[in-house]
Amino acid sequence: MSEIIKILGIPGSLRKASFNRAALRAAEQLAPSGVALETFDLEGIPPFNQDHEKAPPERVKEFKTRIRAADAILFATPEYNYSVSGVLKNAIDWASRPYGDSAWQGKPAAMMGASVGTLGTARAQYHLRQILVTLDMPTVNQPEVLIAQASERFDEHGELTDEGSKQRIVKLLQVLADLVRHLKSCS
Ligand SMILES: Cc1cc2nc3c(=O)[nH]c(=O)nc-3n(C[C@H](O)[C@H](O)[C@H](O)COP(=O)(O)O)c2cc1C
Repeated sequence: MSEIIKILGIPGSLRKASFNRAALRAAEQLAPSGVALETFDLEGIPPFNQDHEKAPPERVKEFKTRIRAADAILFATPEYNYSVSGVLKNAIDWASRPYGDSAWQGKPAAMMGASVGTLGTARAQYHLRQILVTLDMPTVNQPEVLIAQASERFDEHGELTDEGSKQRIVKLLQVLADLVRHLKSCS
């Protein structure tokens, strides 16, 4: 199949020097042939208010449009207090509403995460996996990309320097692309 697979990267941090955004920058560069990865920044997405779910803010409309235009999603989640960041959960909630109009439905997904701790967002990723169940997103199980002690794995310019992490990101993108192809061939 020669069609380019479009993956939307979503970083769960707004921080300028975010390791998770940096991990997505690395993934953009590492994307295998036939895969194009673009990142959507969650800046500008306001706190979710169900009163506005049927007429959401422009930035949320844009977010849902970008999700729908993508073949697959790659989340890069920080770990905040053993879970995903509020910024990421908030954006997920917006795009899941109103009921019956979720942008996530059936969209293949993968995840990775970078943290300064020793478990590399393992706990956050397990919470994210649980969320993706209710969103009905077929999700890549392996490899798990857990970038622990992130400050030692990126240089001062935010470049990912750790070879093992780079290899796991390449593998993750390959497996996600294979999942997309497989699901398209079944539909
Ligand atoms: C509110 C808050 C809670 C955090 N909780 C955890 C945690 O539970 N586990 C962990 O490994 N790191 C935790 N950290 C540290 C983050 O891993 C670190 O700030 C990381 O750089 C965030 O990702 P980012 O670089 O993409 O912004 C926490 C940071 C903040 C601000």
